[in-house]
Amino acid sequence: MGRAMGSVLLCFHILGLILCHFLSDPNLVVSAQNYSPVFACDVDGNLGLKNFAFCDSSRDDKTRVKDLVKRLTLPEKISFLVNSAGNVSRLGIPSYEWWSEALHGVSYTGPGVKFSGPVPGATSFPQPLLTAASFNVTLFQTIGKVVSTEARAMHNVGLAGLTYWSPNINIFRDPRWGRGQETPGEDPVLASQYAVAYVKGLQQRDDGNKKKLKVAACCKHYTAYDVDDWKSHVRYNFNAVVTKQDMEDTFQPPFKKCVLEGNVASVMCSYNQVNGKPVCGDHDLLAGVIRGKWNLNGYIVTDCDSFNVIFNSQHYTKTPEETAALGINAGVDLNCGQFLGKYTQGAVNQGLVKESEINRAVSNNVATLMRLGFFDGDPRKQLYGNLGPKDVCTPDHQELAREAARQGIVLLKNSEDSLPFSADSIKSLAVIGPNADATHTMLGNYEGKPCKYTSSLQGLKAIVQTVYYSPGCDNIACGKALVDDAKKIAAAADAVVLVMGSDQSIETEARDRINLTLPGQQSFVVSEVAKVSKGPVILVIMSGGGMDVSFAVNDPKVSSILWVGFPGEAGGAALADVIFGYYNPCGRLPMTWYPQSYADKIPMIDMRMRPDPKTGYPGRTYRFYAGPTVFKFGHGLSYSQYKHQIVKAPESLSLFLEQDHVCHSSNCKSVDAADQICSNSPAFDVHLKIKNVGKRSGSHTVFLFSSPPSVHGAPQKHLLGFEKLHLGPKEEGIARFRVDVCKHLSVVDEGGNRKVALGHHVLHVGDLTHSLTVSV
Ligand SMILES: *[C@@H]1O[C@H](CO)[C@@H](O)[C@H](O)[C@H]1NC(C)=O
Ligand SMILES: *[C@@H]1O[C@H](CO)[C@@H](O)[C@H](O)[C@H]1NC(C)=O
Ligand SMILES: *[C@@H]1O[C@H](CO)[C@@H](O)[C@H](O)[C@H]1NC(C)=O
Repeated sequence: MGRAMGSVLLCFHILGLILCHFLSDPNLVVSAQNYSPVFACDVDGNLGLKNFAFCDSSRDDKTRVKDLVKRLTLPEKISFLVNSAGNVSRLGIPSYEWWSEALHGVSYTGPGVKFSGPVPGATSFPQPLLTAASFNVTLFQTIGKVVSTEARAMHNVGLAGLTYWSPNINIFRDPRWGRGQETPGEDPVLASQYAVAYVKGLQQRDDGNKKKLKVAACCKHYTAYDVDDWKSHVRYNFNAVVTKQDMEDTFQPPFKKCVLEGNVASVMCSYNQVNGKPVCGDHDLLAGVIRGKWNLNGYIVTDCDSFNVIFNSQHYTKTPEETAALGINAGVDLNCGQFLGKYTQGAVNQGLVKESEINRAVSNNVATLMRLGFFDGDPRKQLYGNLGPKDVCTPDHQELAREAARQGIVLLKNSEDSLPFSADSIKSLAVIGPNADATHTMLGNYEGKPCKYTSSLQGLKAIVQTVYYSPGCDNIACGKALVDDAKKIAAAADAVVLVMGSDQSIETEARDRINLTLPGQQSFVVSEVAKVSKGPVILVIMSGGGMDVSFAVNDPKVSSILWVGFPGEAGGAALADVIFGYYNPCGRLPMTWYPQSYADKIPMIDMRMRPDPKTGYPGRTYRFYAGPTVFKFGHGLSYSQYKHQIVKAPESLSLFLEQDHVCHSSNCKSVDAADQICSNSPAFDVHLKIKNVGKRSGSHTVFLFSSPPSVHGAPQKHLLGFEKLHLGPKEEGIARFRVDVCKHLSVVDEGGNRKVALGHHVLHVGDLTHSLTVSV
């Protein structure tokens, strides 16, 4: 999402312009009856809609969609191709605003949502990157479910739509990407699991009716999109040069899983080009893969104003009509923006688009609305009809926001067990830093209005009697260090908590970073304060992406380091819970923290995942990059220690090939995962005994990695799966993994095909390794 869109309709549907004006003025009290939802097929009205098949919910959706599309004129159909869709009064269809967002709570980013009157705010969860650090799939889905409940509740009072363009599941490939904060991190397995769980949380209904949707989610931005604006390379013109191999084993998997396992109702194509073609105009990638191979049940939408970008920024076609035709023919169903509204008629007149393609697009859009109950009359008379403002920002929802932040927070360094603090011994605290009292910063981008905020300062004040505060810098960029005051309070307190990092002025959409170091004078402030402190010094990094904090890792005066991401509305409360040991930290980094030298040497726009020893290119992410790191993917400490033991894992595996298979006579390094041998999904179990040998109960994530044989430029290591256990002190548990040989032990070859690598696979869990030989 991005460009400001000229005249986006910011007001509400059938409510009319006057109300829109009221809504934008919070001082005016609007009578409750004006807060009503937008819907079609009000059969009690006087249009005789009862007799229209598309309004008859006893018929199947296919029949209903067909009936409706048949009744529409071409201009009406065209008005259904854009996010601010047109109304058809003679059929009782009001205009519908498709663009709503719910990345980590219902958001005001799209024009489909308004916070006003009965719903002044909604629960604001941590940015997905921090939630991903919990490695808790149940949590991912639970958050999605709460968000969709609040979305439905807001819809019932006319304040939100039914179609949400979330989650963002692009792989966080480069640490400088300003939107890394929105994603579930750098690993395709984690990103896929996050996508599937969050989408299910948003979409699945409590009545188990799979044909219908609670709200519609959207996996974005398809595909190979992760450069926003780096040294004048902007996303609108960027051509991502991607090998077939990287495409299939890094960029596509989260989208594939989102569609095939998450059954998402929508995929958004991205602004960028992939190998010279704009994705929103690429028939192979859209109609071919999403619709054809993955069989999307839903609609393909463009990123906002992508067609305008293709025409005006990329100059990809000679006329705007050609761009409209390119997109529709490639498989786009809905255009965020107004481009298709303006140019589709012309494209039809010029013979560039057939009406049948427009019918296809309109049908996909209308079918989605049908699954949402939009054509079933008043939503207040349907499932979820009883939800309303009382169901937004409930104590349970707000507690889940705090719980999510606690589960995500990562303890990166904890020398001499300086954390947790005991409230008995820490009587005074110096809280320092430009993010120490940050509120809005905690939300990250694609935020909504939160229920309330608890800043770090407020969270800590709730526990410690005497708290001194100093911002330490003039602002987040910290051009000017305000160390005198900071040092004074640090020297006077029992302990110091420095809350540093970034905000949206440093890293966000349309803003990639240049440096990985802390902004401006921030490190100087940390070091100066640490020097004069008499007690433990806790450095808290509140940021989207990773930071090069090597100086603090190496400074013995900095006792502990925590990463809190952008932790959402309850971030400060969660941080205080962790610092004072009311919660045992269990977050693990979902992305590699690189040193500044990485950013100095490697152009962000080089999309290659794999290293190139000839040129010294080091590759990307823990799967391929073997150079120095500040913190590794999966790093994260606890106040307890956990021991692992392998109790079950095979040492060898034989795959049985058909008699005439070429690998009988020649010495194969791998066999095709599409082969016969994979048709019965050969699999095995790995069981691990995990013991909490510490004094505190806690949750522990067990990662099962494997290092495949080095064939086909395979990753040095990749995650097969993860399992999170909660264990009391001295308690034991079993982590169980079912490893599918063809799915999990396969690698992607140079041509983009999955192959089961033969030879030694080394399984890793914690410090343990286990060798497994796969042969034929
Ligand atoms: C429906 O669309 C027509 C034509 O675009 C417009 O004049 C009218 O105001 C719209 N009605 C509503 C209720 O939005
Ligand atoms: C990056 O860091 C260098 C060296 O500290 C500094 O000179 C430069 O201004 C920084 N650039 C940005 C964009 O922050
Ligand atoms: C995962 O999250 C859920 C929801 O918050 C929580 O109930 C559960 O305890 C978490 N699992 C672990 C192992 O921490």
